Amino acid sequence: MSRMINVALPKGRLGKNVYAMLEQAEYECPELLEDNRKLIFENKEKNIRYFWAKPTDVTIYVERGAADIGIAGKDILLEYDPDVYELLDLNMGKCRMAVAAPEGYHEDPESTLRVATKFPNIARDFYGKESRDIDIINLHGSIELAPIVGLSDVIVDIVETGTTLRENHLEVIEDVVPISARFIANKASFRFKTAEIEAIRDALADCVARKAQEKGE
Ligand code: PRP
Repeated sequence: MSRMINVALPKGRLGKNVYAMLEQAEYECPELLEDNRKLIFENKEKNIRYFWAKPTDVTIYVERGAADIGIAGKDILLEYDPDVYELLDLNMGKCRMAVAAPEGYHEDPESTLRVATKFPNIARDFYGKESRDIDIINLHGSIELAPIVGLSDVIVDIVETGTTLRENHLEVIEDVVPISARFIANKASFRFKTAEIEAIRDALADCVARKAQEKGE
C-alpha cells in the first residue's frame, strides 16, 4: 500500500515549474493551480499532499518531518546545512553565489573587509578559506544597497540575470559557488517511505534528463 507523501514546494515560479513536472508524472493535484490563497492541497487517490512554503523555510519543514520531501535552493542548503538527504539536482533555478562590489572597486588587503549578505555562513566559509579578515553585516534583502551607501565594501549574494548589479553600478569580482534547485527528503521519511520517495525522485530525474536533452545539454 502506498503511503501519503507530504511535499513542501517553494512559493513562486520555481515551485510552479517543479509542480508541472510532478503533474506530468501523474502526481497531479489540479486545485493547486487555482487562483486562491490556500496553502495546502491534497489528492487522496494519489496519496499526495502539497503545500506552499516560503522558499527559505522549505528545509525547516523537511528537516523536522512536517514534509517528507521538498524543493530547496543549494544556497539555502549551504547556508543552513539542514540534516536532510539531497537526492537530486533539478537543473532549474540556476544562478550563482558571487562577491560583488561597486564598479572599479579596489580592495585594501590591509583592512578588514566589510561584507554585507543574507548568507553569513557561506560568506564566512568562503573568506575563511582565503584566510581573509572580514566583518559580516547580516542583512535580509536589497543587499546591493549596502556598498552603494557605504555600509559595506562588498556583498556576497545571488546573481541570476545580473540586472540588479548592473542597474546599481556593481560588478561581480569573484564567483563563490553555482546554485540550482535540489530535491530533498526527510531522513526518517526516506527510511519508512523509500519506495514512494524514490518513485517521485525517479519521475523527476526523467523529466530533468528529457529537458536537458531537448536543450541539447
Ligand atoms: C535576489 C538577489 C539579488 C537578485 C539577483 O534578490 O538577492 O538581489 O535577486 O537577481 P538578478 O541577477 O536577476 O538581478 P530578491 O529578488 O530575492 O530580493 P531581495 O534582495 O530583497 O532578497
